[in-house]
Parts: sequence; structure tokens; C-alpha cells
Amino acid sequence: MKTRLNRIAKDTNFFLNDFLNKQNNSKLIPAMKYGLFPGGKKIRSKILIDIGSLLSIDYKTLITIGSAVECIHAYTLIHDDLPCMDDDKIRRGKPSTHIKFGESTAILAGNSLQTIACEILASPNLKISEKIKVNLIKKLSECSGHLGVAGGQYLDLSYEKQQVSKIKIIEMEIKKTGKLFSFCCAAPAIIKKMNSQQVKFFENIGSNIGLLFQIADDLIDFKGDSKVAGKKTRKDQKKGKATLISLLGYENAVKYCDKIIFDINKSLKKYGSNSKNIKETLVYILNRNK
Ligand code: IPE
Ligand code: IPE
Ligand code: MG
Ligand code: MG
Ligand code: MG
Repeated sequence: MKTRLNRIAKDTNFFLNDFLNKQNNSKLIPAMKYGLFPGGKKIRSKILIDIGSLLSIDYKTLITIGSAVECIHAYTLIHDDLPCMDDDKIRRGKPSTHIKFGESTAILAGNSLQTIACEILASPNLKISEKIKVNLIKKLSECSGHLGVAGGQYLDLSYEKQQVSKIKIIEMEIKKTGKLFSFCCAAPAIIKKMNSQQVKFFENIGSNIGLLFQIADDLIDFKGDSKVAGKKTRKDQKKGKATLISLLGYENAVKYCDKIIFDINKSLKKYGSNSKNIKETLVYILNRNK
């Protein structure tokens, strides 16, 4: 698993570095590269590749689409750390982008990474039909905007220090984190020109994977080591973040994760042994310490 993830990270960073180096230079490029490289685990790309290979999509196509997703992800992390959001000074083991470059540059670098994602999907690097590209851009926009990541981040901040129900916490976590995973699972189905019901099936799996990922992130915040995680831990409680841990306790949150994994595996049963890579990724997501 680790070797596979490292290879995906290396190939994604190679693509992104090349793509950014081919852009005309600008004063924002250093802050954009800082937020993007050396980068995180590339777990969203791994999920995209797991589902993509299930549907026999070629690796290069998946790395290109994964690179677009990682740009959106890096942008959300840059903004998430800003003083007006989580106010975090360390990210990926180094000073957050706004600490290094200042707030306004960090905001603009984040915005620029978001639009680079669409440029990547529209570029000739991606060897698929124009119609499919439009559908991918549409889905990625939907998953990133007010009905997805941005909307979820809004809820996350507005729920601070509030009593929030389980159903609302889950909705918030699915939006802020799950939706980008939904895109990763839906993209291969979109490329295969599956009907909307089939695309929805994969989107749902993605939402659940993302929910699992966010609860595991909350578990890391609760118990994890800052040095290993590369970001400050034990801060959610201080900020009064609404999480399943704050509502149900640590043990029950872990149990809830086991149930999510069970349900995802059940819905992938029809793919038999072909789904073994996804299963492996789910175990990694829950048991990781960074
Ligand atoms: C952190 O995401 C933010 C969440 C959505 C929980 P990752 O844990 O995937 O961050 P990197 O990319 O590995 O740094
Ligand atoms: C972030 O969730 C979700 C995003 C969409 C960026 P967190 O705020 O828990 O992520 P970390 O713990 O700062 O990485
Ligand atoms: Mg946050
Ligand atoms: Mg945060
Ligand atoms: Mg967190």
C-alpha cells in the first residue's frame, strides 16, 4: 500500500510540477507551489485510481484527473488554515502558506490553484472527449462549491461551540471532505459514460469514504502526534468543533468507522476480488497516523 501510494504521489507531483512550469510565470507561483509541494499523502488520487482501475481506465488519465483534485485539495487546506478559519500555523510539517507568504497571497494562491484544476481537466494532457471533460469539470465544480467543500467548510465554522445533532455533523463532514472523494469515485463512471444512477452509486461510495476519512482525521486530532501528523493536534476540542468524537466519544466514533467500512465493502461486493485495492485503502484510511 505504502509503495503504491508513494508511486502515485511521485507521478502526481511530476505532472503538477511540469504543468505549473509550463504556465507563464507570476508572483503567485511560489506560494502556489509551496501549498502544493512536496504535498500530502495523495489519498484522493489513490481512491480515484482504485475505482478507475476497477473500471479499466488507464493510469495516465487517472493521474491527470487526480492532479486536478490535488490542486483543489491544496487550495482548501491553504484556506482552512487562515486566521478567519481554523487559524493553524503548521501544515504538512512546515509553516502554513499564509504564515510564509501573508494572508492575501495565500488567499489568491488558493484561488489560483482552484482554477488550475479546471485548466488541467480542460487541457490536451487529458486524452478524453471534450464532452466528457465538460462533465468532469461540471462535477468537480459541484463537489467543490457551495454544495460541496465550501458549503461544508461554512457549516464546520458555524457549528463551532454549538450543540449539533449526529445527522448534521455527518452532513457537514460529507460536504467538507466527502464531496471531493465523491468526485474521485464518480469521475471513472463519467468517463465510462455510465448513466446518472450508476454515477450516483459511485458518488455515494465516495461520500462514505470521505466521511470515513474525516472521522479518522478527527481521531488523529484527538489522539495523534503533531510531529507525525505534520499539523497541530488536540485543537478541535479547544475550538469547540462539532465532531462525532465530541458527540459520541472516541470509542463510538471508531465503531462508526468500522460500520462505514463494512457498508462500503458490501456495496462493492459485486466487483469481487477486483475491489481488493479499495479495501486496502479503507483500512489504511482508518489506521493511519497522519
Ligand atoms: C487533511 O487532508 C484535511 C482533511 C480533509 C481532513 P489530508 O490528510 O488528505 O491532507 P494531506 O494532503 O495528506 O496533507
Ligand atoms: C478540513 O478539515 C476539511 C477541508 C475541506 C480542508 P480539518 O480542518 O479537520 O482539516 P485539518 O485537520 O486542518 O487538516
Ligand atoms: Mg477546518
Ligand atoms: Mg483545519
Ligand atoms: Mg482535522
